[in-house]
Amino acid sequence: MSEPVLSIRDLHVSFPTATVVQGVSFDVMPGEIVGVVGESGSGKSMTARSVLRLLPKSARLGGSIRFRGQEVLDMSPADIRAMRGALVSMVFQDPMTSFNPVLRIGDQIAEAMTLHGQKDRKTLSDRVASLLASVGIGNPKARARAYPHEFSGGMRQRALTAMAVANGPALLIADEPTTALDVTVQDQILQLMRDLNATSGTAILLITHNIAVVASLCRRLIVMYAGRVVEDGPTDEVLTAPRHPYTWSLLQSVPRLDRATGRLVAIKGQPPDPAEPLAGCKFHPRCPWVEERCTRDEPPLEDGVRCWVRPAL
Ligand SMILES: Nc1ncnc2c1ncn2[C@@H]1O[C@H](COP(=O)(O)OP(=O)(O)O)[C@@H](O)[C@H]1O
Ligand SMILES: [Mg+2]
Repeated sequence: MSEPVLSIRDLHVSFPTATVVQGVSFDVMPGEIVGVVGESGSGKSMTARSVLRLLPKSARLGGSIRFRGQEVLDMSPADIRAMRGALVSMVFQDPMTSFNPVLRIGDQIAEAMTLHGQKDRKTLSDRVASLLASVGIGNPKARARAYPHEFSGGMRQRALTAMAVANGPALLIADEPTTALDVTVQDQILQLMRDLNATSGTAILLITHNIAVVASLCRRLIVMYAGRVVEDGPTDEVLTAPRHPYTWSLLQSVPRLDRATGRLVAIKGQPPDPAEPLAGCKFHPRCPWVEERCTRDEPPLEDGVRCWVRPAL
């Protein structure tokens, strides 16, 4: 058995007002594509950003994040910079903040490759053009000379994805990379990730609202609720035989899983306010199977499920 490329243990992310990630643990194996789903506010982005230490200044981190065995929470700023881009890349929902507005797109992608070893100018510009072409950007040689504001949002997202995969990273973290894009562009980006995974063995942690994407791309699925992992298992099992009531509720809200547009929609009730203490299982106020002890003690994540009752679903 190989070592995990990413190993998160008992991760906590706290703001002065609330703890928003509480005790998250999971591994990502080399070459594995892992999906993360959960309602808005469940701590998906904070978990993802913790890996690259891209959190707001007021956030406090606890626990352990090991990338290829090295503790990320102990890394110096220089170590973190070296890791970003070359070894771990991230694609965000809003790519505007990820490009420098005064530099040409192609130069920024080339720069990312130069930082991590590639030096030859001709090789660089050819590689930039082929990366842009691979994300569906036509006339890539000319487009490489454009500035970020000259690209539409969808094109920036594609260019950002091209930059993220430029160095064939060991791990790509994609936080709702296709949410704002039309379906054709979504497909291109997902295909690029699939190719990258197949050719470079890049492991992918993919945060998404789209169950169809999860079903087609991810072998494993993690479900988050209120800053916790509530279910973690093989995608086909989680989708067809969910074991946590929250996962079950989420899937009830998807009209049909085989529909390309099968997106997760909100379920009844509200997730708990992280600033308000809530005893027991964080899902208990919304859970149809709630029992007395669910209101008292928080269940541990055991055998991939965080539930005392484990009803037949
Ligand atoms: N700078 C911040 N200060 C305080 N709370 C924050 C800050 N940023 C995010 N949060 C809170 O952290 C929680 C988790 O956010 P996030 O990880 O972005 O959720 P998700 O990506 O699952 O939608 C949310 O309740 C959000 O309001
Ligand atoms: Mg998010």
